This record gives sequence, C-alpha cells and structure tokens, in this order.
Amino acid sequence: MTEQNFIIESKDVHLYYGKKEALKGVSLDFMPKEITALIGPSGCGKSTYLRTLNRMNDLIPDVTVTGTIKLNGKDIYSPKMDTVALRKEVGMVFQQPNPFPFSIYDNVAYGLNISGMKDKQKMDEIVEKSLRRAAVWDDVKDKLNKSALSLSGGQQQRVCIARVLAVEPEVILLDEPTSALDPISSAKIESMLVELKERYTIVIVTHNMQQASRISDKTAFFLQGDLIEMGQTRKIFTNPKEQATEDYISGRFG
Ligand SMILES: Nc1ncnc2c1ncn2[C@@H]1O[C@H](COP(=O)(O)OP(=O)(O)O)[C@@H](O)[C@H]1O
Ligand SMILES: [Mg+2]
Repeated sequence: MTEQNFIIESKDVHLYYGKKEALKGVSLDFMPKEITALIGPSGCGKSTYLRTLNRMNDLIPDVTVTGTIKLNGKDIYSPKMDTVALRKEVGMVFQQPNPFPFSIYDNVAYGLNISGMKDKQKMDEIVEKSLRRAAVWDDVKDKLNKSALSLSGGQQQRVCIARVLAVEPEVILLDEPTSALDPISSAKIESMLVELKERYTIVIVTHNMQQASRISDKTAFFLQGDLIEMGQTRKIFTNPKEQATEDYISGRFG
C-alpha cells in the first residue's frame, strides 16, 4: 500500500434534521485531483452529505452534525473555521443553474469584487481564464456585458462553474449539475469536468449511472443515510462487494 494523501477525510459523520437522522455515520475520504461520484436512490442523503463538505447545511435551521471532516488536515467544523473562506476553497454548483441577474462578466467577477480586487486587468484575465476552463468562453466572449440570464441553461451552468473557478477553489462540489440540461449540454459539462480534474478535486452527485461510470475515478454508493461502499468506479460498476450496490447499479431499484 502506498501512502494516501487525502484532501478531504470525513469520519463517522451523522447529520440530523431536527430528530431525523439523514446521515448515519458516513466515513469517506477523497483523493486530490480525482472525480468521485456519489450515487444512490433519491432521499439516501447524497445532497446532505455533499453539503457537509463545505458546511452548507449550516444555513438550514435545526441541523446537527457530528463526526469530523478535515480539509487538508484541518477540521472544518472547528469554531475557528472561517466558513466564507471554506466555501471559496470548496465551491459548489447546484442542479438548477443559478446565475445572478447581472452581466456574464459580473457573475464570474463576483467573488473577486467581494474580496476587494481593484486591478481591472487582473480581473479581466481571471474572468477569461475561468470562462475558458469552464468551456464557455467561445460562447460568451463577444457578449460579456449581456445578462447571464439571456444564456441557455447549459451555458448558464458553465458560467456558474466559471464563477466558482474564479475564486481558485481546491475542491468543487456539484449536485446533479446536468440533470436539468439537454444531452449535448450535459456532454459538454462532462468533458469539461474531466479536464478540470487536472487542477481540482471534484465530488459530483449524480443519479445518472452512465455519467458516473464515464467520468468518475471513484464511486460511493449511499443507501438510506449509510455509505454502503466506495471504490474504483470500474470495480463498483462491474464487481461490487455488496449485494445492495449490485441491485442498484443493475437497476433493480432506485
Ligand atoms: N432541509 C431539510 N429538512 C429536513 N429534511 C431534509 C432536508 N433536506 C433533506 N432532508 C431529508 O434528508 C434525507 C436525505 O435527503 P437528500 O440528502 O436530499 O437526499 P438525496 O440527495 O440523496 O436525494 C431525505 O429523507 C430528505 O427528505
Ligand atoms: Mg439530492
């Protein structure tokens, strides 16, 4: 066994919405610069788990989280943790594209403006670089001052990804980012994610088995708040250890 340098380590994570236990002791680690897919039937806790990784559940009332989650060895639930900084390090993309009702440029520059960047030339460079990495530059380069809301859903989603990239995250969380999109837009986002993993660690929730098997290195299967198994994607899809995984990936439920 070689030494494993996980970027995120989560141990025995329980999450309660009020009294309802939505995560029942999940332990899951992530290697840098890999794509990990979280799969499982609706309601099994995929989104809930994803949100624990950048403390987005903190925004929901009456949520209790126990266990530990470390990013680069630091406990992200420590009272000392700056959650604004954490959410820059660990960016998030949602199912429904959620651009702000601003220009394309201002959407991508948003985080830079917030952090007080004044250097316009530097900002232009970062906006362009982020849009290029998000594979949407050619679509928008001639209309950066147009409203992001004028774009197609697939373009909006890629602009939202560019907005996350602009603040230089280490980890990108995506919650079913293509499930509201057509197949061509989805394919563009899939190939973009495979390119992005050269620089970023990616965790993606997907209910699309083909998508998980096409783009992810590792797959984690959740069921009713438990992590059932996690491993190399090829192994999970061809020779899983657990019967429940086999049943799910072969379409027997879910
Ligand atoms: N904000 C919330 N308040 C209360 N219960 C929630 C909330 N969000 C999710 N849940 C519940 O937690 C469980 C896991 O939900 P979720 O993480 O959204 O599952 P998935 O993403 O796998 O479909 C479900 O039973 C769901 O109803
Ligand atoms: Mg979900």
